Amino acid sequence: MWFFRSPEIIFGEDSLSFLKDLRINRCLVITDNFLLKSGLLDKLFRNLPESSKRMVIGDISPEPTFREMTGRIEEIRKFNPDYVIGFGGGSSMDTSKILFALNERPDLDVYDITPLVPLGLRKKSRLIAIPTTSGTGSECSWAAVLSEEGEKRKSELASPEILPDYAILDPDLVVSLPKEQTKNTAADALTHAIEGYVSSWNNPFSDAMSEKAIDLISSNIETVLKDPENIDARNSVHIGASMAGLSFSNSQIGLAHALGHSLGAYFKLAHGKTVALFLPNVIDFNYNVSAQKFEKLNSIVPERYRKKKFSDTLRGLFRSMGVEGSIEECGITRKEFEQNLDGLVSLASESTGCLTNPRESSTSDIRELFRNSYARLR
Ligand SMILES: [Fe+2]
Repeated sequence: MWFFRSPEIIFGEDSLSFLKDLRINRCLVITDNFLLKSGLLDKLFRNLPESSKRMVIGDISPEPTFREMTGRIEEIRKFNPDYVIGFGGGSSMDTSKILFALNERPDLDVYDITPLVPLGLRKKSRLIAIPTTSGTGSECSWAAVLSEEGEKRKSELASPEILPDYAILDPDLVVSLPKEQTKNTAADALTHAIEGYVSSWNNPFSDAMSEKAIDLISSNIETVLKDPENIDARNSVHIGASMAGLSFSNSQIGLAHALGHSLGAYFKLAHGKTVALFLPNVIDFNYNVSAQKFEKLNSIVPERYRKKKFSDTLRGLFRSMGVEGSIEECGITRKEFEQNLDGLVSLASESTGCLTNPRESSTSDIRELFRNSYARLR
């Protein structure tokens, strides 16, 4: 028996106005410092009922720990929200999932958020995710990532009950996304779509999401990077990124994420950058196991990027987007890399991405993938 889980998705221009139709009385908004100061939060507030009471948590950092996430949990319980809104990138949306659960269940240990434990949520509130980047897919997933205090390791918590009730994909919220974040998050989304498509848990529903996601993102990202305010192209990439999120959250990720998470933990690099730089080499590693699927994906990418091998198609596409193609290009010296290689391999080997990658990998395979990815293929 299989499931395909998805929030109710509201998308396209002016989709933020959907909030006006909900009877929101007491709204908890979780966001980050940048958005708190930007005009985007005002856009959100303009679409909330005027009479609604609001509590804003606006200091969620890019990789929050449990302590950071839950610093104001008692205040939240007193506020007693009927809607919890995650507004921002993956960290804000992930934090909203955790706070949504812990507000309803003060007795809950956060590590009890697992697929196997019924949580009995939604007695007090509903959860809404509104992404302001096009890439993480958190708005469509039932997972939340938590950084462990003082450690490089992160924990992934998952429960179908922390899947948002609504995901609102309003392209107006991403038109001013800076170029650097636009390209990195798009590269992350493409990696989600591709890894989900060949994951050992892939299924017909996740496959359909991946194929359309790759079509939408690869056909529109060039326009978005050249003309960031092109709302149609932004809308397509924004929808594609959520489709990619639906794919991998209903299948799984693979080795590019396993290695990328590890590199990001050691060198504090943007997530999208770290996964994209490994992806072409991971595709070469997996090729014989999933050849037909990679050929199918190669046929979806616009002809102007298409090469004989899908990995080369992606190398070219990422290059045209200005995404770093190697560890070296991320500014890491050979010495730093070699000094940390054992730790990098060990952390990557612990990732669930190793379990669902289509081809089994040993630690020496992972070490070789790291080494092959230090410098770009010439
Ligand atoms: Fe990712």
